Formats: sequence, C-alpha cells, structure tokens
Amino acid sequence: MENMPRVLKITDLHVVVSDSENEGNKKEILKGLNLEIKTGEIHAIMGPNGTGKSTLAGTIMGHYKYEVTGGSITLDGKDVLAMTVDERSRAGIFLAMQYPNEISGVTNADFIKTAVQARLPEGEHVKLFKFIKDLDKAVSDLKMNSDLPHRYLNEGFSGGERKRNEILQMKMLKPNFAILDEIDSGLDVDALKICGENVNNMRGDDFGAIVITHYQRLLDYINCDYVHIMMDGRIVMTGGKELIERIDQDGYDWIKEELGIVTEIETKKRVSLGTCAVKKASEVR
Ligand SMILES: Nc1ncnc2c1ncn2[C@@H]1O[C@H](COP(=O)(O)OP(=O)(O)OP(=O)(O)O)[C@@H](O)[C@H]1O
Ligand SMILES: [Mg+2]
Repeated sequence: MENMPRVLKITDLHVVVSDSENEGNKKEILKGLNLEIKTGEIHAIMGPNGTGKSTLAGTIMGHYKYEVTGGSITLDGKDVLAMTVDERSRAGIFLAMQYPNEISGVTNADFIKTAVQARLPEGEHVKLFKFIKDLDKAVSDLKMNSDLPHRYLNEGFSGGERKRNEILQMKMLKPNFAILDEIDSGLDVDALKICGENVNNMRGDDFGAIVITHYQRLLDYINCDYVHIMMDGRIVMTGGKELIERIDQDGYDWIKEELGIVTEIETKKRVSLGTCAVKKASEVR
C-alpha cells in the first residue's frame, strides 16, 4: 500500500457568490465542475477571464466568499468542505493566490515559520537552525532579494516579488497539492523561468499541482500531464500539451463553436443588440 497516490476529487461542484451589485442576490459561478487530481500529476487549467478559475481555487482552499450549493470536494475520500481553512492546509492543500494579501507587522519569515509549525505533530517544534538554512536555500533557489524574508509580508513588494514569494511559501510548506493561480502574471521573463523551474522541481510522488494560467510561456517550464479548458463554470475539454499551443494560436472561440457553448456575456450582447435593431427599425418607419 506504500506509495499510494493521494487523490483530490471534485464532483459536480456548484458555487455561488453574493452579487456585489445586489447584496442578497446570489450569482452562480461554478456550474457542475468535475476534476480529479492525484499526487504525482500536474494539471493546467486555462480559460477565458471570468470563467471561475480563481473561484475554483478559492473554494478548494475554503475562502469565505464562496458558497458551495452542490457537489463535493474530497481528499482521499475525506470531506474537504467540512474542514476549516487551516485544516485544509494541514491536510496538505496549498494555494498561491492570484492577488496575495499584505500583512503589516508580520515578517515574511515569521509567517512561514508559523505555517510550518502549524503542520507539525503536537509537541514537535520547528528546528530554528534547519528552518533558517532551508529558507535561505529556497530564497537563493528563487533568486530572491535576501531582505525579502525579513520584511513585512508582501508590504511594498513589487508584483513579481509577491508572486515569487508565493512560490517561496510553497517550497517551505511542501504541500501535497498546490493550486497556483496565475503565478506567472507580473513576472519578468527571467522570474518566469525561475518560478516555473522551481515548481517543476517539486514534481514527485508526493506532489500534485493545479496550475492556472493564460499563457503557454509558464508551461514551457512546468511539464504538465493534463490541460483542462474551463468555460462558464465548468471544465469543458481535457487534453495534453497540444491544447496549450492551439489556444495560444487560436484562442477559445473554436472550442465554443465545437461544443456549442454560449456564454452569459454573449447572451446579454445578443439580447441588447436585438433590442437596438428593433428600435432602429421602428424609428425608420
Ligand atoms: N461579488 C461578486 N459579485 C458579482 N460577480 C462576482 C463576484 N465575485 C466574483 N464574481 C464574478 O465571478 C466570475 C468568476 O470570477 P473568477 O475570479 O473566478 O474568474 P477567473 O476565471 O479567475 O478570471 P481571470 O482569468 O480574469 O482571473 C467573474 O465574472 C466575476 O466577475
Ligand atoms: Mg482568476
């Protein structure tokens, strides 16, 4: 039974958010999403803006903003939705956020040390010397400025520094499942290569990742096993690396056409165009 992969399984997931324009009104973002990932695998998720990729990431981690109205998320058969955020983290799930938050007054190193400590079995403590050595190595692997661990978390960090810092946290926490939400946005070409390679180096029997990205560039460095296309709150297509290239060249319209998907925005556009056309016709008369 040794080396059995861990399995994160998402089944028919439905998620709503409170509409910011009309509090109390719920808007469905995820509309029956299915995804299964095992340790040892890296999955890429691509898809147009606003299709629910960050919603999926935040829901897996347990962000309070997202309300699950149907379906399930399990980790090795255990109900993830019943766990608090820190229980999910201790269970081995990690999220690198699209927009990492600033925490003033807490140094980056203290933050990471606390998170590492929280994962240790009761009665065990972080060994300070080893922690510092590991942190220094991770900082140098990521070619980060050596003052960054000692500054307040993300305060005044540049966009690229924040993204690199998310990868630093991942390297230190060594999760079983990492969800990386657009870690490439804001990275310069060198940083992109460094971050991509550092994620790829995590590959192994105990590590699985969901890499959310818009561009082929990141996936030049991260060798992914599956590519999923997400549209309108669901995964609508799954393939291999050939999908990345096709999307880079041709965008998403061909998938919509092939699968007959009409998004909400397009429905609205059609309705309003139709209304205009009717008005114009009556004005002519
Ligand atoms: N509070 C809210 N009120 C109304 N709509 C919301 C709210 N929160 C999120 N949404 C909508 O949910 C949809 C999905 O958002 P999400 O951030 O998951 O998209 P995404 O696929 O990550 O997009 P991107 O590629 O731009 O990062 C968007 O249309 C967004 O505007
Ligand atoms: Mg997003």
